[in-house]
Amino acid sequence: MTSVAQTAQSPASQTLDVRRIREAFPLLARTIGGKPLVYLDNAATTQKPQPVLDTLSRYYAAENANIHRGVYQLSQNATQAYEGARAKVAAFLNAAEPAEIIFTRNATEGINLVAQTFGRWQVGEGDDVVISTMEHHSNIVPWQMLCEEKGARLRVVPITDAGELMIDELASMLGPRTKLVSIVHMSNSLGTINPVRQVVELAHAQNIPVLIDGSQAAYHMAVDVQAIGCDFYVVTGHKLYGPTGIGALYGQRRWLEAMPPYQGGGDMISSVTFEHTTYNKVPHKFEAGTPHIAGAIGLGAAVDFIQGVGFEAIADHERRLLDYATDALLGVPGLRLIGTARKKASILSFVLDGVHAHDIGTIVDTEGVAIRTGHHCTQPVMDRFGVPATARASLAMYNTVEEIDQLVATLTKVRGIFG
Ligand code: ALA
Repeated sequence: MTSVAQTAQSPASQTLDVRRIREAFPLLARTIGGKPLVYLDNAATTQKPQPVLDTLSRYYAAENANIHRGVYQLSQNATQAYEGARAKVAAFLNAAEPAEIIFTRNATEGINLVAQTFGRWQVGEGDDVVISTMEHHSNIVPWQMLCEEKGARLRVVPITDAGELMIDELASMLGPRTKLVSIVHMSNSLGTINPVRQVVELAHAQNIPVLIDGSQAAYHMAVDVQAIGCDFYVVTGHKLYGPTGIGALYGQRRWLEAMPPYQGGGDMISSVTFEHTTYNKVPHKFEAGTPHIAGAIGLGAAVDFIQGVGFEAIADHERRLLDYATDALLGVPGLRLIGTARKKASILSFVLDGVHAHDIGTIVDTEGVAIRTGHHCTQPVMDRFGVPATARASLAMYNTVEEIDQLVATLTKVRGIFG
């Protein structure tokens, strides 16, 4: 049977058949307060396609067993499905091998894992960790905690008024005391896509490892960790049209082998006595306890779905939507975009003169339009632009021009209420 994902490109133009895509996402058909839902909060989480829902349901209804533990068939099948999902995620990110993928709860846990293992091992008193102004709190706080514990320094690369990374400043911060650069691939509050390959080249020229936070990037563009050359890359499943509570950390094998374990417990050991424990091989050394088996398998189904649609078609569709939405929003009197990088993906953060972002969010919700308002877990970005909060529309493969029109119509209504 041909899947929705495989038939969702219109052959003539190679553009997305968005109507067909939308049919795969049952939640998009629902109404909110009697109005059709216009879901524009994809940077917070994406909706789930039917193949992911079916995979989760089938797993629990017919395939559930613990992994790596049983000699019976059901357990072995669950193990195969879980390890198969690891191979899918490895292929999705173009890791050299599945063992370079560690399943985590989310991107936040991936970053914390690196901070608590690589970081505690490599970062000492007087050393530096380099991040940027546009990081999500999840790529700030774990490093702050580490630096406080070790007496190290957190250095922050500034950004321009357009929301672009000041790459020369980054280059000037790197030195013999820099133990890690940790930078976001695509900003969740500005939409900026950072030149991650260039960042890696600059850092590697001085033997400094690089972690890339791919939480936002990975559902908008094809990610090739080997081409980027990064040492670590983190993603989260729920933004990849997959389940919540599952994410992945890519790490180069040489680091994963050398790093101490993260959490202690079952499955991460090779042998235990009261005197001494030896650890399991990579990647199991980093996956203590029963993992989110269903989540991993669901994530495998999600990346299958994305690859079935294809990033070329997704990026092309989202680029058109972004251009259309940018023009349309700028037509709303008093609206200012925050985040105007030359290279950005489909996130539109904005403020409206004289109206608090939360009022915007509340009023557009009465028309069924879901956007996020607030600081988007990037308070330093809000400080940089001198605003307490923004409203943010974030677009995904299933969004339409009509939905953007609906957003603009409701913003015009907001404008009318506040004068
Ligand atoms: N980090 C997510 C967002 O940007 C939750 O909304």
